[in-house]
Amino acid sequence: MTDLIRDAIAILKENDRGTYTVPTKGLYPFQWNWDSCLTVLGMRHYDEARAWTEIETLFAHQWPDGMVPHIVFHQPDDGYFPGPDVWATGRPVPTSGITQPAVAGFALRRLYDRAKDRDAAEARARTLLPKVAAWHRWFHACRDPHGEGLVAVLHPWETGRDNSVDWDAPFQRVPTDGIAPYTRRDTQHANPEHRPTKDQYDRYLWLVERFRSLGWDNTLLHDASPFQLVDPGFNAILIRAETDVADLAERLGETGIAAENRAFAARGVAAMERLWSDPHGQYLCRDRALDELVDSPSIAGLLAAFAPIPEDRAAAIADTIERHKTRFRVASHPPGRPGYDAKRYWRGPVWLVVNYMIADGLAKAGQKGAAGRITADSIELIRHSGFAEYYDPMTGEPCGGGSFTWTAAMVIEILKAA
Ligand code: DGY
Repeated sequence: MTDLIRDAIAILKENDRGTYTVPTKGLYPFQWNWDSCLTVLGMRHYDEARAWTEIETLFAHQWPDGMVPHIVFHQPDDGYFPGPDVWATGRPVPTSGITQPAVAGFALRRLYDRAKDRDAAEARARTLLPKVAAWHRWFHACRDPHGEGLVAVLHPWETGRDNSVDWDAPFQRVPTDGIAPYTRRDTQHANPEHRPTKDQYDRYLWLVERFRSLGWDNTLLHDASPFQLVDPGFNAILIRAETDVADLAERLGETGIAAENRAFAARGVAAMERLWSDPHGQYLCRDRALDELVDSPSIAGLLAAFAPIPEDRAAAIADTIERHKTRFRVASHPPGRPGYDAKRYWRGPVWLVVNYMIADGLAKAGQKGAAGRITADSIELIRHSGFAEYYDPMTGEPCGGGSFTWTAAMVIEILKAA
């Protein structure tokens, strides 16, 4: 075992709370949806049974309508804001009221395919499969109510890319008046220069309060939200998960789930074409309320390579990444574009989980050289700067939280699977 793998496993174990992992101590003291699902990719290499438990714990808190929340507040902790009292979702174990990228279907298939204990994998996959399928169905019913084939996010936190430049223009429609006074906790754990601004936080909270006032009723939220963004990366993750769930369901003889997910994915891939931009050589977000593309070539449009998109689109994305003028691939926003900031969260920094998903998709589409360079940069960042939340794409400086679970998980997965 290399030193890097040993160190990465130590971080996962340090952040393990028995049936779920926290993303990092202090800054994120609960279970986060896509963090957990990506974490199992690393965890499975040293404790397969525990990796299944991670996803099972998350789905134990699935809402009756099918949504899987973005945070499960397993235990009280004052170190995070906004906590359960702000969300007030009324769930037996408190959760947030929004969702996150649908990585679970991809993680489920990866766990099943590579499992050493085949009997356990079969039993656990069979139990999880209908739950993941219900989440996918929820996305299409509640986030694509007019049947466009792609789903919208109603809050930047749903994408995980909280302060992307993509949201700057649409966020002008989100008011800030009337929000309850609050104290941020994130800036007490991480450098405020690396985090979203107060103006962004005010708008995040306005949206939470608006949705809360509607009783978190997902049949109402979409049309009531001034923020309805169709994010190509978010949709690509869902489409990839649907493809993986369809494949897995076929193998398990679950023909209904297979057909439904195959159809969702096919419709999604076709609809993604509406987000393509030739001038940018990548996909863009679409502002559903205005019915127009957002002129912001962020990493969301490169993460689209994670879905089974046409090979010429994947080749163009590989070229676009090569044209980024950074020391380390892949910047979350390209240097030189308005709004770029090398250290501020999703406005420039490199994130290993996104690198992993882009490289996986590009390799599948035949872009092995580009994929290999992204993976090599990822490992160099770790050697250079440790297991940070994210990294300056020019200097490799570690930013945000430290000893970060999903960063460590990616390192194990990359090095063990190589
Ligand atoms: C945060 O609190 O920074 C998260 O991104 C919200 O999930």
